Amino acid sequence: MDSEIGHIINAAKLHTKLYGDSLPMIASENITSPIVRRLVASDLGHRYAEGRVGHRYYQGCKYIDQIEETAIKLAKRLFEAEHVNVQPTSGVNANLAAFFALTDPGDLLMPLDVPHGGHISHARYSAAGIRELKIECLPFNNEEMNIDADLMVKKILDIKPKIVMFGASLFLFPHPVKEARQAADDVGAKIVYDAAHVLGLIAGKQFQDPLREGADVVTGSTHKTFPGPQGALILCKSDVADEIDDAVFPGTVSNHHLHHIAGLAATLSEMIAFGEDYARQTVANAKALGQALYETGLDVLCEKNGFTESHQIAIDVSKYKGGAKVASNLERANIIANKNLLPWDDVNNPDNPSGVRLGVQELTRLDMKELEMEEIASFIKRVVVDEEKPEKVKKDAILLKRRHQIVHYCFNRGSAYGFPEYR
Ligand SMILES: Cc1ncc(COP(=O)(O)O)c(C=O)c1O
Repeated sequence: MDSEIGHIINAAKLHTKLYGDSLPMIASENITSPIVRRLVASDLGHRYAEGRVGHRYYQGCKYIDQIEETAIKLAKRLFEAEHVNVQPTSGVNANLAAFFALTDPGDLLMPLDVPHGGHISHARYSAAGIRELKIECLPFNNEEMNIDADLMVKKILDIKPKIVMFGASLFLFPHPVKEARQAADDVGAKIVYDAAHVLGLIAGKQFQDPLREGADVVTGSTHKTFPGPQGALILCKSDVADEIDDAVFPGTVSNHHLHHIAGLAATLSEMIAFGEDYARQTVANAKALGQALYETGLDVLCEKNGFTESHQIAIDVSKYKGGAKVASNLERANIIANKNLLPWDDVNNPDNPSGVRLGVQELTRLDMKELEMEEIASFIKRVVVDEEKPEKVKKDAILLKRRHQIVHYCFNRGSAYGFPEYR
């Protein structure tokens, strides 16, 4: 075998082994089920199917149509959505399509600011800027780690945005969608809810239900708490369906990723069967981790509100040299997390923010429960508070992880870390 290919295969094997021995706690990731992995590796990944079901610009799409139609049908059922588009290739792509569908250049967008948890695609330097939107941020209450609903209503009536944008990357508590609906109607604004992080919790009915609370459009990645292949979907009301579809194709996607659509359809089916149990355990685990870390003396945000209602918790580690140092020490102990801006941080200085963000959705899928969360909290305490050598803690992290190698909450459970052999 060519030596560079051999090198790549070796690196991929080592990566797989590293994750098999690690505790992955990045809140935006997940692992797919064995069935989904097979579909993602199928011939579908080589093909083109520009257009919509039954109206393609390429031949050979007979079975692709069946797959995409099934994905749409399952998503409509799971999310009780009037209309679904499964073609965006990422969450940012879905947001960009929503902006193109609902605004003109120069219109006003009202999202969360990035240090308050807003995603870069809601900001001038990403998708919102590409659509040339002006931005006025939602008022935020740092204590509650949530939008201030009263101030929000006043601001909507005052500045009359074209889109009120909910959803976040640091997303601990449900957003005030219901509270915004009347004000949005009064000024002719649409409500877009970016469910990238919480799509799986919404599917499992353990978070808010943005469509019923008044969102016109819901965008979301399909690979965070929703444990599918990387990609995104858009759920919306019928009255904006044509604009959304046109903004996806031909607006912002040419060929969507057909192997991921097949994997998405299978994940939707698995979430219909197992999503409630999975989402319930995920939220219970996040709360348990928050409580256990708080008891170690760490400054876990929002103790008085139970730390979180989602899959994430946030810790202010400024007194332990900040998020960059802590995340890097945790990595040495095989605990994979990310440094994170907190509301009091400077957005122009993202390299050493005060926070770390921890997500439990992937560990939950590997059948970890409250007891394991307590064990992980003790590892984190040893690294961060006790300043024990991370390499010593790593041994215990590996022992814990070796007991959790099988993907749960899916049909045909199987190994999370298999690697096909090549000769
Ligand atoms: C709130 C939010 N929206 C959108 C995205 C972008 O999703 P993707 O990485 O699928 O483009 C993210 C990514 O983490 C996010 O947190």
